[in-house]
Amino acid sequence: MTLRSVIRGSGSALPARAVANAEMADLVDTTDEWIVERTGIRNRYLAGEGETTSSLASEAAAMALEAAGFSGDSIDLIIVATASPDQTFPAVATIVQNAIGCRGTIAFDVAAVCSGFLYALGTADALLKTGAAKRALVIGAETMSRLLDWEDRTTCVLFGDGAGAMVLEATEVDANDPAAPGILATRLHADGAYNELLYVDGGPSTTGTVGKLRMKGREVFRHAVVNLAAVLEEVLDATGHSAAEIDWVVPHQANARILDATARKLGLPAEKVIVTVDRHANTSAASVPLAFDTAVRDGRIKPGQLVMFEAMGGGFTWGASLVRL
Ligand code: UT7
Repeated sequence: MTLRSVIRGSGSALPARAVANAEMADLVDTTDEWIVERTGIRNRYLAGEGETTSSLASEAAAMALEAAGFSGDSIDLIIVATASPDQTFPAVATIVQNAIGCRGTIAFDVAAVCSGFLYALGTADALLKTGAAKRALVIGAETMSRLLDWEDRTTCVLFGDGAGAMVLEATEVDANDPAAPGILATRLHADGAYNELLYVDGGPSTTGTVGKLRMKGREVFRHAVVNLAAVLEEVLDATGHSAAEIDWVVPHQANARILDATARKLGLPAEKVIVTVDRHANTSAASVPLAFDTAVRDGRIKPGQLVMFEAMGGGFTWGASLVRL
């Protein structure tokens, strides 16, 4: 028998206010046509007063706990992936911990921007397998709208706010059984030589301000397709699975064209790729668990299926994870 991290439930949350492309065209020199053609985005949700990264994360966490049938106080590890915490510290994970009625257990944030959820998932998996924890809440949550320069049309039309959560449980399975559930392999990478292509121009130790997001989109795009295709192959090699066996790819939702190009490189039909970028835009660390929960709740993703998660973002950071549900 082998100890694996099994996904027991998921949840997600969006701010109340939906903002269509037409409304963005009132703010900056853009059009619905440009945004749809270049990105696939039609809509995003933007946090209003009282909506924060921790409030969205806590709502998603409560939904995931309900789906799993677990109480908040049965969770002994909470990891929140975010680039837009409520405050510089404490960690959003500790705010979520308090909100779900859980005390004294491990709770921390990870900062890997759009790949943050993959980093959080890989870290939770490693801790669950060592026995350091039994039940983990892994969350991606962002209020990216608060890091955007609302006069920069090249970035402000691309991002949205939201949260997604998964509950994982360390479970003994028969690893020789191909139907045995759990995380099969995760691979994570970073290359800090590319910091300046996607960053925030402020922070506590430099400007003393929060700063605004800056991106050289075209260059990020180029690296994204290459890095994602490579890490997907790496995870397939590590697990002995072929691309044809994958039931669903749940990618980071940055741009519909990146999703198409990556699927093509792997030889995967577009029907196997979960796409929510049209509705949610790029929600950074929230996008993978938000897309996953959306597709679980609309009945596309089902128990027993083989699902690939993948993401690439600022740092650069990138990663992928293959999971049997
Ligand atoms: O989540 C983390 C990872 N992030 C990503 O993966 C993002 C990757 N990059 C992208 O998704 C795309 O590069 C963008 C969507 C950001 C941009 O698309 P693009 O096809 O690479 O466009 P571009 O940056 O090459 O810009 C083309 C033109 C430019 O005009 P000129 O120089 O050709 O006259 C831009 O000024 O489009 C212009 N433009 C816009 N026009 C209308 C840029 N933003 C806008 C806009 N509305 N909002």
